[in-house]
Amino acid sequence: MPKLFVKTYGCQMNVHDGERMAELLAGQGYEATDKPEDADMVLLNTCHIREKAAEKVYSDIGRLRPLRAAKPDLRIAVAGCVAQAEGEEILARAPMVDLVVGPQSYHNLPALMARVAKGEKVVETEFPAEDKFDHLPARRLRAPTAFLTVQEGCDKFCAFCVVPYTRGAEVSRPLARIVAEARALAEQGVREITLLGQNVNAWHGAEGGLAMLVRELAGLEGLARIRYTTSHPNDMDDALIAAHGEEPKLMPFLHLPVQSGSDRVLKAMNRKHRAADYLRLVGRLRAARPDLLLSSDFIVGFPGETEEDFAATLALVEEVRFGSAYSFAYSSRPGTPAAERPGVDPEVAHDRLLRLQAVITRQQREAQEATVGRVLPVLFEKPGRVPGQMTGKSEHLMAVSVMGPESWRGKIVPVRITAALTNSLTGEAV
Ligand code: SAH
Ligand code: SF4
Ligand code: F3S
Repeated sequence: MPKLFVKTYGCQMNVHDGERMAELLAGQGYEATDKPEDADMVLLNTCHIREKAAEKVYSDIGRLRPLRAAKPDLRIAVAGCVAQAEGEEILARAPMVDLVVGPQSYHNLPALMARVAKGEKVVETEFPAEDKFDHLPARRLRAPTAFLTVQEGCDKFCAFCVVPYTRGAEVSRPLARIVAEARALAEQGVREITLLGQNVNAWHGAEGGLAMLVRELAGLEGLARIRYTTSHPNDMDDALIAAHGEEPKLMPFLHLPVQSGSDRVLKAMNRKHRAADYLRLVGRLRAARPDLLLSSDFIVGFPGETEEDFAATLALVEEVRFGSAYSFAYSSRPGTPAAERPGVDPEVAHDRLLRLQAVITRQQREAQEATVGRVLPVLFEKPGRVPGQMTGKSEHLMAVSVMGPESWRGKIVPVRITAALTNSLTGEAV
C-alpha cells in the first residue's frame, strides 16, 4: 500500500482540510504515515498568514531532497493557502514539487494525481462553483470531537490579512447538508462539534443565521456540545448573543478576535469597529452567559502603532480579562493594503509583543486557577501521556488530565479540579 505523509500549518480550518484530504486519499489506497521517510507522497498543507509560516514551506521542501534522491517517484504536493497565493511560483522556486492545489479544489485530488502520474506538473487554484464537500467521501470518525465546516472565505479585507485572497469570498454551506453531516457524525459517536468558518458567524445558509443553525444542531441526539470559530465582532447578532444564554449545548467559550484596543489602529486596520463596540459586545455576551470565557487575537506593531495605541490595547485586555489569547507581531504580507505603509521598528514590536503576552499569560493563569476546587464536566477524548490517565476538555475548552479508564472516551464525567498545572488541569472523578 502506498503511504501518505501530511503536514499541516495554520488555522483549524486548514487542519480540517488536511484531515479531509487524507481521508480522500485513503479512498485512493493511501495509508497514513507519520514518518516522511516512509512516504510515497508528501502533502504540505500550508499557511500564508505570516511571512515565517509561508517561508517554512520552502525549507520543508528542501528537507525532502534526500528522500526524493533515494526514492525518485516520491510525489510532493503543496496544498493550503501558500498554494493558493503563489500557484505557479511554487514550481518555479521549488521544481521538486509535482502538484500545487488550492483550498477550494482539493476534492479534485484523485484526478490531479492521475495527471501527475503521467508525468505532468499540475497547478490547480480555481474557485469552482460546486461545494467541494459534496465531492468528498463520507467521514469515518472515531474521535468524540469533530470539526464541521459551515462557512468559508472572508469579505472583510482587514488591511493586514491575506485570507480574503487565499480563501475567496464568503460562502455559506446550505443548512440541510450541514445538518446531515452533523447527524452522521453524531451517529458515529461524535459528542462535540466545532463549526468552522473564516467568519463563522457570517453564516447565511438559512434565515436566522448561525443562532438558528446552533439551535437546529442542538436537537441532534447524542451531540452534547457545540462550539464555533472564528467569529467576527461585527457579525455577532442579537440572536447569537441570546443563544449563548439559552442553548445549554452551546459551550461558554468564545474566540472573538479584536486585534487592537486603539481606535486609530482599528481604523487603519479596516476593522470597522471601535474598542468601545467590542467592550459593549463583551458586556452583552456576559449578560447572556455570565460564565462565558473569551479568547482573542491581537496584532502588535501594526504600521503607525504608537506607544499610546499599544497602551490602549493593554487597557482593553485588562478590562476584558481573557481566558486565553493569541498575539502576533505584525507581518507585512504582499498584496495587502498595509504592506505599502511604513512599519514599526521590529524591536519595538517585539518588545510590545512580550509585554502583551505577559498580561495574557497572567490572565490565562488566573482563569485556570479559578477552576481549582470546582467540579467541571469533562468530555474525555483519549489516553493521556501518563499510563492510566485520560485527557479531555472542560466546557471552557481547558485541557483536563485525570487517572481513569479508557471507557471514558466519549463520555462526559464530572471532575473535581485539584490543581492547575502548566498545560492542563488535573483532578479526580466524582
Ligand atoms: N478570520 C479570523 C482570523 C484569521 S487569521 C478573524 O477575523 O479573526 C488569525 C489571526 O492571525 C488574525 O486574527 C490576526 O490576529 C493574525 N494575523 C492575520 N494577518 C496577520 C499579519 N499580517 N501579521 C500578523 N498577524 C496576522
Ligand atoms: Fe482576515 Fe479580517 Fe477576514 Fe479575519 S476578518 S480573515 S482578519 S480579513
Ligand atoms: Fe493560514 Fe489560510 Fe488558515 S492563511 S490561518 S491556513 S485560512
